[in-house]
Amino acid sequence: MRKTWILALVCAAGLSGQSLRQLAEARSVKIGAAVNPMRLNEPAYAETLAREFSQAEPENAMKFGPIHPARDRYNWAPAEAVANFAREHNMALRGHTLVWHQQLAPWVTAGAPSPADLEKILGEHIAAVVGHFAGQVYAWDVVNEAIEKDGSPRKSPWSPVPDYIAKAFRMARAADPKAKLFYNDYDAEGIDAKSDAIYALVKDLKQRGVPIDGVGMQFHITAKPLDTESIAANMKRLTDLGLEVQITELDVRVPLDSSGRPGAADLEAQARVYGQVARTCLKFPRCTAIQTWGVTDKYSWVPGYFKGTGAALLFDREYNPKPAYEAMRAAFGAR
Ligand code: XIL
Repeated sequence: MRKTWILALVCAAGLSGQSLRQLAEARSVKIGAAVNPMRLNEPAYAETLAREFSQAEPENAMKFGPIHPARDRYNWAPAEAVANFAREHNMALRGHTLVWHQQLAPWVTAGAPSPADLEKILGEHIAAVVGHFAGQVYAWDVVNEAIEKDGSPRKSPWSPVPDYIAKAFRMARAADPKAKLFYNDYDAEGIDAKSDAIYALVKDLKQRGVPIDGVGMQFHITAKPLDTESIAANMKRLTDLGLEVQITELDVRVPLDSSGRPGAADLEAQARVYGQVARTCLKFPRCTAIQTWGVTDKYSWVPGYFKGTGAALLFDREYNPKPAYEAMRAAFGAR
Protein backbone atom coordinates (compact mmCIF):
# COMPACT_ATOMS: atom_id res chain seq x y z
CA MET A 1 0.00 0.00 0.00
CA ARG A 2 2.57 2.46 1.18
CA LYS A 3 5.01 1.37 -1.55
CA THR A 4 2.41 2.03 -4.26
CA TRP A 5 1.76 5.45 -2.83
CA ILE A 6 5.47 6.29 -2.83
CA LEU A 7 5.79 4.97 -6.37
CA ALA A 8 2.89 7.13 -7.53
CA LEU A 9 4.47 10.17 -5.94
CA VAL A 10 7.84 9.45 -7.53
CA CYS A 11 6.18 8.97 -10.93
CA ALA A 12 4.25 12.21 -10.66
CA ALA A 13 7.38 14.09 -9.63
CA GLY A 14 9.28 12.43 -12.44
CA LEU A 15 6.71 13.43 -15.03
CA SER A 16 6.50 17.01 -13.87
CA GLY A 17 10.29 17.22 -13.97
CA GLN A 18 10.68 15.64 -17.37
CA SER A 19 12.05 17.66 -20.24
CA LEU A 20 10.06 18.10 -23.42
CA ARG A 21 12.52 15.74 -25.07
CA GLN A 22 11.83 12.98 -22.52
CA LEU A 23 8.07 13.46 -22.69
CA ALA A 24 8.07 13.34 -26.48
CA GLU A 25 10.35 10.30 -26.57
CA ALA A 26 7.72 8.45 -24.53
CA ARG A 27 5.22 9.24 -27.31
CA SER A 28 7.70 8.33 -30.11
CA VAL A 29 7.67 11.84 -31.54
CA LYS A 30 10.91 13.68 -32.25
CA ILE A 31 11.21 17.22 -30.95
CA GLY A 32 13.59 19.16 -33.14
CA ALA A 33 15.20 22.55 -33.39
CA ALA A 34 16.85 24.42 -36.23
CA VAL A 35 20.47 24.97 -35.22
CA ASN A 36 23.03 27.64 -35.95
CA PRO A 37 26.46 26.02 -35.51
CA MET A 38 27.97 29.39 -34.53
CA ARG A 39 25.90 29.34 -31.31
CA LEU A 40 26.91 25.87 -30.14
CA ASN A 41 29.75 27.30 -28.04
CA GLU A 42 27.26 29.35 -26.00
CA PRO A 43 26.69 27.12 -22.94
CA ALA A 44 23.01 27.99 -22.41
CA TYR A 45 22.30 27.36 -26.09
CA ALA A 46 24.03 23.98 -26.12
CA GLU A 47 22.52 22.91 -22.78
CA THR A 48 18.98 23.86 -23.75
CA LEU A 49 19.31 22.18 -27.15
CA ALA A 50 20.63 18.90 -25.73
CA ARG A 51 18.21 18.81 -22.79
CA GLU A 52 14.95 19.68 -24.55
CA PHE A 53 15.35 18.47 -28.13
CA SER A 54 15.88 15.02 -29.65
CA GLN A 55 16.53 16.24 -33.20
CA ALA A 56 18.73 18.91 -34.79
CA GLU A 57 18.61 20.43 -38.26
CA PRO A 58 21.03 23.03 -39.59
CA GLU A 59 19.05 26.26 -40.09
CA ASN A 60 21.23 27.30 -43.04
CA ALA A 61 24.42 25.25 -43.13
CA MET A 62 23.21 22.52 -45.51
CA LYS A 63 21.57 24.86 -48.04
CA PHE A 64 23.11 24.97 -51.51
CA GLY A 65 24.85 28.35 -51.24
CA PRO A 66 26.47 27.78 -47.83
CA ILE A 67 27.50 24.16 -48.42
CA HIS A 68 28.50 24.27 -52.11
CA PRO A 69 29.97 27.75 -52.68
CA ALA A 70 31.88 26.83 -55.85
CA ARG A 71 31.40 24.02 -58.33
CA ASP A 72 34.44 22.16 -57.08
CA ARG A 73 34.25 23.23 -53.43
CA TYR A 74 32.08 22.08 -50.54
CA ASN A 75 32.00 23.77 -47.14
CA TRP A 76 31.28 20.85 -44.82
CA ALA A 77 32.50 22.17 -41.48
CA PRO A 78 29.43 24.16 -40.29
CA ALA A 79 27.00 21.35 -41.13
CA GLU A 80 29.38 18.80 -39.60
CA ALA A 81 29.42 20.81 -36.37
CA VAL A 82 25.65 20.31 -36.11
CA ALA A 83 25.98 16.64 -37.07
CA ASN A 84 28.66 16.10 -34.43
CA PHE A 85 26.58 17.83 -31.75
CA ALA A 86 23.62 15.65 -32.63
CA ARG A 87 25.70 12.47 -32.44
CA GLU A 88 27.32 13.47 -29.12
CA HIS A 89 23.90 14.13 -27.60
CA ASN A 90 22.10 11.17 -29.10
CA MET A 91 19.89 13.35 -31.25
CA ALA A 92 18.48 12.60 -34.69
CA LEU A 93 19.86 14.73 -37.55
CA ARG A 94 17.57 16.15 -40.23
CA GLY A 95 18.89 17.58 -43.50
CA HIS A 96 17.62 20.82 -45.08
CA THR A 97 17.49 21.36 -48.04
CA LEU A 98 18.66 20.09 -51.44
CA VAL A 99 16.45 21.86 -53.98
CA TRP A 100 15.22 25.40 -53.25
CA HIS A 101 14.86 28.64 -55.17
CA GLN A 102 16.55 30.61 -52.36
CA GLN A 103 20.06 30.64 -50.87
CA LEU A 104 21.39 29.12 -54.07
CA ALA A 105 25.08 29.55 -54.94
CA PRO A 106 25.41 32.30 -57.60
CA TRP A 107 27.76 30.12 -59.68
CA VAL A 108 24.89 27.76 -60.52
CA THR A 109 23.07 30.21 -62.77
CA ALA A 110 26.01 32.50 -63.61
CA GLY A 111 27.12 30.65 -66.72
CA ALA A 112 23.65 30.57 -68.38
CA PRO A 113 23.48 26.78 -68.00
CA SER A 114 21.36 24.69 -70.36
CA PRO A 115 18.70 22.44 -68.80
CA ALA A 116 21.09 19.52 -69.27
CA ASP A 117 23.90 21.44 -67.49
CA LEU A 118 21.54 22.27 -64.63
CA GLU A 119 20.48 18.66 -64.28
CA LYS A 120 24.12 17.63 -64.11
CA ILE A 121 24.79 20.23 -61.40
CA LEU A 122 21.77 19.04 -59.46
CA GLY A 123 22.89 15.43 -59.71
CA GLU A 124 26.43 16.21 -58.58
CA HIS A 125 25.18 18.33 -55.70
CA ILE A 126 22.71 15.77 -54.37
CA ALA A 127 25.13 12.87 -54.74
CA ALA A 128 27.86 14.78 -52.89
CA VAL A 129 25.78 16.26 -50.06
CA VAL A 130 23.49 13.30 -49.39
CA GLY A 131 26.43 10.93 -49.81
CA HIS A 132 28.55 12.95 -47.36
CA PHE A 133 25.93 12.71 -44.62
CA ALA A 134 24.70 9.19 -45.43
CA GLY A 135 24.18 7.26 -42.21
CA GLN A 136 23.94 10.53 -40.27
CA VAL A 137 20.98 12.41 -41.75
CA TYR A 138 17.89 10.23 -41.24
CA ALA A 139 15.56 12.47 -43.26
CA TRP A 140 16.09 15.07 -45.97
CA ASP A 141 13.98 17.94 -47.18
CA VAL A 142 14.68 17.08 -50.80
CA VAL A 143 12.54 19.77 -52.40
CA ASN A 144 11.54 22.94 -50.58
CA GLU A 145 8.72 25.37 -51.44
CA ALA A 146 8.07 24.39 -55.06
CA ILE A 147 4.38 25.42 -55.03
CA GLU A 148 2.92 28.94 -55.03
CA LYS A 149 0.10 30.08 -52.73
CA ASP A 150 -2.46 29.65 -55.55
CA GLY A 151 -1.32 26.08 -56.15
CA SER A 152 0.65 26.72 -59.34
CA PRO A 153 4.24 25.47 -59.73
CA ARG A 154 6.78 28.03 -58.58
CA LYS A 155 9.21 29.35 -61.15
CA SER A 156 12.62 28.42 -59.79
CA PRO A 157 16.17 28.29 -61.09
CA TRP A 158 15.61 24.51 -61.26
CA SER A 159 12.39 24.68 -63.32
CA PRO A 160 14.20 24.38 -66.69
CA VAL A 161 15.08 20.79 -65.73
CA PRO A 162 12.13 18.70 -66.93
CA ASP A 163 10.42 16.88 -64.03
CA TYR A 164 13.09 18.21 -61.67
CA ILE A 165 11.15 17.32 -58.51
CA ALA A 166 10.91 13.61 -59.32
CA LYS A 167 14.54 13.58 -60.50
CA ALA A 168 15.75 15.15 -57.26
CA PHE A 169 13.99 12.49 -55.17
CA ARG A 170 15.47 9.71 -57.28
CA MET A 171 18.95 11.22 -57.02
CA ALA A 172 18.61 11.48 -53.24
CA ARG A 173 17.43 7.88 -52.90
CA ALA A 174 20.40 6.70 -54.97
CA ALA A 175 22.83 8.67 -52.78
CA ASP A 176 21.43 7.26 -49.51
CA PRO A 177 18.87 4.47 -49.84
CA LYS A 178 18.18 4.57 -46.09
CA ALA A 179 17.31 8.26 -45.65
CA LYS A 180 13.67 9.32 -45.56
CA LEU A 181 12.85 11.83 -48.27
CA PHE A 182 10.50 14.77 -47.71
CA TYR A 183 8.77 17.48 -49.69
CA ASN A 184 8.65 20.60 -47.45
CA ASP A 185 6.56 23.78 -47.72
CA TYR A 186 4.99 26.68 -45.79
CA ASP A 187 1.50 28.17 -45.53
CA ALA A 188 -0.13 24.88 -46.49
CA GLU A 189 -1.05 23.46 -43.09
CA GLY A 190 -4.83 23.40 -43.55
CA ILE A 191 -6.87 22.55 -46.62
CA ASP A 192 -6.58 25.21 -49.33
CA ALA A 193 -5.43 25.65 -52.93
CA LYS A 194 -1.77 25.31 -51.97
CA SER A 195 -2.13 22.20 -49.81
CA ASP A 196 -4.41 20.70 -52.50
CA ALA A 197 -1.60 21.17 -55.03
CA ILE A 198 0.97 19.67 -52.66
CA TYR A 199 -1.32 16.72 -52.06
CA ALA A 200 -1.74 16.22 -55.82
CA LEU A 201 2.03 16.52 -56.32
CA VAL A 202 3.01 13.93 -53.71
CA LYS A 203 0.19 11.58 -54.71
CA ASP A 204 1.42 11.70 -58.30
CA LEU A 205 5.01 11.06 -57.17
CA LYS A 206 3.88 8.03 -55.16
CA GLN A 207 1.83 6.68 -58.04
CA ARG A 208 4.80 6.98 -60.38
CA GLY A 209 7.02 5.10 -57.95
CA VAL A 210 9.15 8.13 -57.15
CA PRO A 211 10.78 7.61 -53.74
CA ILE A 212 9.09 10.00 -51.31
CA ASP A 213 8.47 9.24 -47.65
CA GLY A 214 6.92 12.33 -46.19
CA VAL A 215 5.68 15.89 -46.28
CA GLY A 216 7.12 18.62 -44.08
CA MET A 217 4.74 21.31 -42.90
CA GLN A 218 6.73 24.36 -41.94
CA PHE A 219 4.22 26.08 -39.61
CA HIS A 220 5.54 29.67 -39.56
CA ILE A 221 2.35 31.02 -38.03
CA THR A 222 0.77 33.71 -35.85
CA ALA A 223 -0.88 33.25 -32.44
CA LYS A 224 -4.38 33.34 -33.93
CA PRO A 225 -6.24 30.15 -32.91
CA LEU A 226 -5.73 27.43 -35.53
CA ASP A 227 -8.38 25.65 -37.54
CA THR A 228 -7.23 22.28 -36.23
CA GLU A 229 -9.98 20.42 -38.08
CA SER A 230 -8.66 21.64 -41.39
CA ILE A 231 -5.06 20.83 -40.42
CA ALA A 232 -6.08 17.36 -39.23
CA ALA A 233 -7.96 16.77 -42.50
CA ASN A 234 -4.81 17.67 -44.42
CA MET A 235 -2.62 15.44 -42.22
CA LYS A 236 -5.14 12.65 -42.67
CA ARG A 237 -5.16 12.72 -46.46
CA LEU A 238 -1.34 12.85 -46.58
CA THR A 239 -0.82 10.05 -44.06
CA ASP A 240 -3.51 8.00 -45.84
CA LEU A 241 -1.13 7.96 -48.82
CA GLY A 242 1.31 6.11 -46.56
CA LEU A 243 3.44 9.23 -46.08
CA GLU A 244 4.77 10.59 -42.81
CA VAL A 245 4.13 14.18 -41.91
CA GLN A 246 6.51 16.26 -39.85
CA ILE A 247 6.15 19.76 -38.51
CA THR A 248 9.45 21.14 -39.63
CA GLU A 249 9.82 24.86 -38.89
CA LEU A 250 7.35 25.75 -36.17
CA ASP A 251 7.37 29.27 -34.82
CA VAL A 252 4.42 31.28 -33.53
CA ARG A 253 5.09 34.98 -33.83
CA VAL A 254 3.53 37.66 -31.64
CA PRO A 255 3.67 41.48 -31.80
CA LEU A 256 6.61 43.15 -30.05
CA ASP A 257 6.34 46.54 -28.35
CA SER A 258 8.75 49.43 -29.04
CA SER A 259 11.29 47.94 -26.62
CA GLY A 260 11.09 44.60 -28.41
CA ARG A 261 9.04 42.76 -25.79
CA PRO A 262 5.97 40.57 -26.21
CA GLY A 263 2.82 41.11 -24.13
CA ALA A 264 1.69 38.58 -21.51
CA ALA A 265 -1.70 37.96 -23.16
CA ASP A 266 -0.01 37.30 -26.51
CA LEU A 267 2.32 34.78 -24.89
CA GLU A 268 -0.72 32.96 -23.48
CA ALA A 269 -2.39 32.96 -26.92
CA GLN A 270 0.88 31.67 -28.37
CA ALA A 271 0.97 28.88 -25.78
CA ARG A 272 -2.54 27.79 -26.78
CA VAL A 273 -1.49 27.60 -30.43
CA TYR A 274 1.63 25.55 -29.59
CA GLY A 275 -0.65 23.20 -27.65
CA GLN A 276 -3.03 22.96 -30.62
CA VAL A 277 -0.16 22.05 -32.96
CA ALA A 278 1.23 19.37 -30.65
CA ARG A 279 -2.16 17.79 -29.95
CA THR A 280 -3.05 17.71 -33.66
CA CYS A 281 0.21 15.99 -34.54
CA LEU A 282 -0.26 13.49 -31.72
CA LYS A 283 -3.55 12.35 -33.27
CA PHE A 284 -1.57 10.78 -36.13
CA PRO A 285 0.91 7.94 -35.56
CA ARG A 286 2.52 9.03 -38.85
CA CYS A 287 3.11 12.57 -37.56
CA THR A 288 6.61 11.76 -36.41
CA ALA A 289 8.35 15.02 -35.51
CA ILE A 290 7.68 18.53 -34.28
CA GLN A 291 10.55 20.90 -34.86
CA THR A 292 10.79 24.57 -33.88
CA TRP A 293 12.70 26.97 -36.11
CA GLY A 294 15.33 27.78 -33.51
CA VAL A 295 16.05 27.26 -29.83
CA THR A 296 15.65 30.69 -28.25
CA ASP A 297 13.98 34.02 -29.04
CA LYS A 298 17.51 35.46 -28.78
CA TYR A 299 18.28 33.96 -32.19
CA SER A 300 15.32 33.69 -34.52
CA TRP A 301 14.74 34.72 -38.10
CA VAL A 302 11.25 36.04 -37.21
CA PRO A 303 11.96 39.67 -36.15
CA GLY A 304 14.09 40.21 -39.24
CA TYR A 305 11.55 38.74 -41.63
CA PHE A 306 8.14 39.52 -40.12
CA LYS A 307 8.76 43.11 -38.98
CA GLY A 308 7.26 44.14 -35.65
CA THR A 309 6.87 40.56 -34.49
CA GLY A 310 9.06 38.01 -32.72
CA ALA A 311 9.28 36.02 -29.48
CA ALA A 312 8.10 33.06 -31.56
CA LEU A 313 9.91 30.14 -29.91
CA LEU A 314 9.67 28.05 -26.71
CA PHE A 315 12.50 29.72 -24.79
CA ASP A 316 12.90 33.46 -24.22
CA ARG A 317 16.06 35.46 -24.79
CA GLU A 318 17.41 34.36 -21.40
CA TYR A 319 16.59 30.71 -22.15
CA ASN A 320 13.71 30.67 -19.68
CA PRO A 321 10.87 28.35 -20.71
CA LYS A 322 7.82 30.31 -21.85
CA PRO A 323 4.12 29.47 -21.42
CA ALA A 324 4.38 27.83 -24.86
CA TYR A 325 6.92 25.39 -23.45
CA GLU A 326 4.56 24.37 -20.66
CA ALA A 327 1.72 24.03 -23.19
CA MET A 328 3.87 21.67 -25.25
CA ARG A 329 4.77 19.64 -22.17
CA ALA A 330 1.12 19.47 -21.21
CA ALA A 331 0.20 18.27 -24.71
CA PHE A 332 2.77 15.50 -24.28
CA GLY A 333 1.20 14.44 -21.01
CA ALA A 334 3.18 16.26 -18.32
CA ARG A 335 1.19 16.73 -15.15
C1 XIL B 1 15.57 30.99 -43.09
C2 XIL B 1 16.62 31.10 -41.99
O1 XIL B 1 15.99 30.95 -40.74
C3 XIL B 1 17.32 32.43 -42.07
O2 XIL B 1 18.42 32.46 -41.16
C4 XIL B 1 17.83 32.68 -43.49
O3 XIL B 1 18.36 33.98 -43.57
C5 XIL B 1 16.71 32.52 -44.50
O4 XIL B 1 16.12 31.24 -44.36
N1 XIL B 1 11.59 28.42 -45.00
C6 XIL B 1 12.66 27.56 -44.98
C7 XIL B 1 13.86 27.94 -44.18
O5 XIL B 1 12.59 26.46 -45.53
O6 XIL B 1 15.05 27.45 -44.76
C8 XIL B 1 13.97 29.42 -43.97
O7 XIL B 1 15.05 29.66 -43.08
C9 XIL B 1 12.67 29.96 -43.44
C10 XIL B 1 11.54 29.71 -44.39
